Amino acid sequence: MAGRIALVTGGASGIGRASCARLRKDGYRLAVLDLDGEAAASVAGADGLGLAADVGDEASVAAAVERVVAELGRIDLLFNNAGITGSPAATRCHETPVEEWDRVLATNLRGPFLLSHAVLPVMLRQGGGHVINLVSIAGMVASLGRCAYSASKGGALMLTKSIAADYAADGIRCNAVCPGWVHTPMTAWRLDDPELGPRATRTIPMGRVARPEEIAEAVAMLAAESLTYVTGLALVVDGGLTSTIVI
Ligand SMILES: NC(=O)c1ccc[n+]([C@@H]2O[C@H](COP(=O)([O-])OP(=O)(O)OC[C@H]3O[C@@H](n4cnc5c(N)ncnc54)[C@H](O)[C@@H]3O)[C@@H](O)[C@H]2O)c1
Repeated sequence: MAGRIALVTGGASGIGRASCARLRKDGYRLAVLDLDGEAAASVAGADGLGLAADVGDEASVAAAVERVVAELGRIDLLFNNAGITGSPAATRCHETPVEEWDRVLATNLRGPFLLSHAVLPVMLRQGGGHVINLVSIAGMVASLGRCAYSASKGGALMLTKSIAADYAADGIRCNAVCPGWVHTPMTAWRLDDPELGPRATRTIPMGRVARPEEIAEAVAMLAAESLTYVTGLALVVDGGLTSTIVI
């Protein structure tokens, strides 16, 4: 795997950060794109590239991808990981501020689209590549009071299948990783709460949430390029959460 280049969005924190460490172990050089450019540069390391950009901003994304190609030469793996949940308050559809819908969709769905839109021509020129989208089980079953998040992740899952189908003949694969609960800065406020935390873990057959490193393992397995016939997959990593109903 030596010499391969991975572009990771949202790599400054949580699952993205753990995945960068894991991919580096497998020999990937990293381009890390995040709102927090300083943290991105520190995760990318001396032989990598840190980029400060908003995944929802077309011009910034195009400039960032151009820079990766100019400085690192190619992009073998695009890992669309950056994401937000929206406001901590649970709201049903009619109570969800339109601004919140736009903000969540801009990061979680427009983001992976813009990155793929900019990177796929690079992969076509190279004759191959792999796009991995960090989705969520919320893209497969609705997360209560989170219509914007669920819709954005459902959209990202269909974007995955769409890219998988449209580029299969070009040697470009696209797969999704769908975690359940993971303890990261995104979820710590809830999982560390003495009431809300146990309420979340009670529904998980394994009885615990995942560590970011456990999601990074799933990303690394796909990124290892040994599953050469796998494309359009939604790899669920949820401790059994969506395998059962709580009764
Ligand atoms: N934590 C969970 O339980 C969980 C479960 C399923 C899916 N996910 C998904 O995993 C991904 C990573 O989440 P995490 O838990 O590691 O969160 P996190 O908040 O720890 O990290 C997210 C990173 O994305 C960056 N980011 C956010 N918006 C951005 C934007 N517009 N442009 C560029 N960078 C941006 C942040 O700066 C941060 O570094 C997200 O897509 C999230 O929806 C998380």
